[in-house]
Amino acid sequence: MSLDNCRLIELPKIHDPRGNLTFIEQSRHIPFEIRRVYYLYDVPGGAERGGHAHREMHQFIVAMSGSFDILLDDGKQKARYHLNRSYYGIYVCPMIWRELDNFSSGAVCLSLASTFYDESDYFRDYQDFLKTLRGK
Ligand code: TYD
Repeated sequence: MSLDNCRLIELPKIHDPRGNLTFIEQSRHIPFEIRRVYYLYDVPGGAERGGHAHREMHQFIVAMSGSFDILLDDGKQKARYHLNRSYYGIYVCPMIWRELDNFSSGAVCLSLASTFYDESDYFRDYQDFLKTLRGK
């Protein structure tokens, strides 16, 4: 699993003068089975979220409203994305360290996850994450 497996995915957008509509269909748009949905909101200016990696969890992240940055790191390469459209998301495979910051006022971050919440799936220490990647 590396950054090469992570990618921006464009979602369908139904333009309408009454307001646009986007939908997400499992397996058509998302490369995993969705077991959990959660969202971040009321994020204060300057806050940072994330700061962890996951052993098993696949994730898809969308800026439903507003914008934020996401840094992805596979232990070898890093990539930074600015998410600011409701019809784009980023697929994050397992064993990727992620950090989210630069939240705009009113930003809402939607996450679709392949697993139920399980604290034992997290790496919360960056050095532990690197050691596991290097098989130490
Ligand atoms: P965390 O995943 O660290 O948040 P983020 O990556 O968005 O900064 O989770 C923050 C807290 O919320 C932590 O105590 C675990 C809890 N939590 C749940 O109970 N269920 C969930 O589905 C998630 C994502 C977090």
